[in-house]
Amino acid sequence: MELRGKNALVTGSGIRLGRAIALALGEAGCNLALHYNSSVESVIQVKSDIEKMGRKARVFQQDLEDTSNVQDLMTRVCEEFGHIDILINNAGIYPPGPGKAATPEKINRVFNINLFSPWLLISAFASQLPKDAQGKVINISDGKIFQYGTDHFSYRVTKHAINTITAMFALELAPKITVNAIAPGTMLPLQGYEHANLQVVADRQIPLRRIGNPEIVAQNVLHILSQDFMTGHVIRVDGGEFL
Ligand SMILES: NC(=O)c1ccc[n+]([C@@H]2O[C@H](COP(=O)([O-])OP(=O)(O)OC[C@H]3O[C@@H](n4cnc5c(N)ncnc54)[C@H](OP(=O)(O)O)[C@@H]3O)[C@@H](O)[C@H]2O)c1
Repeated sequence: MELRGKNALVTGSGIRLGRAIALALGEAGCNLALHYNSSVESVIQVKSDIEKMGRKARVFQQDLEDTSNVQDLMTRVCEEFGHIDILINNAGIYPPGPGKAATPEKINRVFNINLFSPWLLISAFASQLPKDAQGKVINISDGKIFQYGTDHFSYRVTKHAINTITAMFALELAPKITVNAIAPGTMLPLQGYEHANLQVVADRQIPLRRIGNPEIVAQNVLHILSQDFMTGHVIRVDGGEFL
């Protein structure tokens, strides 16, 4: 896909990976619908950075925990942009805890934000795409789920499901829309642990002996968007950590 002049919606675009993806899309010539939930100051800075590149950028606040808001988000984006060509499902939460501690009530939140809202956004995206347009969806998954673990039970379940719906929607939405996912490895410390020394993690468990960064994920987004004959794949970007 030629990116210049295309309209892209990135969820969770104010900070960290979502911010880097939005800025890279702006550099590549896209106009940006910048979704955020609480990071208002950061997303306004991203908007300003993208406008300085000569692109259109608008911000859209929406709490994706309430899945009844999803169609409204897409409607507001389309009112502003006409339609969107690219959807990046990046927003997510990472609650800790094993399966024994989980209850359906407790895990509703992570399911709504990490799985149901991205799924509903893909449906809404497919419905708004003009008849003759080509569309691209990229879901941000997680490389760690390729090794089973007992931590972050509900998060892991949602990311497994994201990989599954990536393949299923790739089949359902072909030939107009490609649907792929990126499974990042260790990219950034958790929020609140910014001073953690991740090089220790890299030396111990990453074959390429370094951690990633948001820009590496953004480069892979651009790469996938440049590919028109690839759909249904989950690309691992993890330095070999979860092989
Ligand atoms: N960081 C890593 O090393 C890493 C590794 C593997 C996978 N990932 C995946 O990459 C994606 C981004 O992770 P990150 O570490 O960059 O971000 P993060 O620090 O986990 O931030 C979460 C993002 O999701 C948004 N969000 C959270 N709750 C929301 C809600 N209720 N409604 C709408 N949006 C909400 C936040 O928006 P606001 O800030 O505006 O509230 C923020 O942009 C996630 O899907 C994550 O699972 C990250």
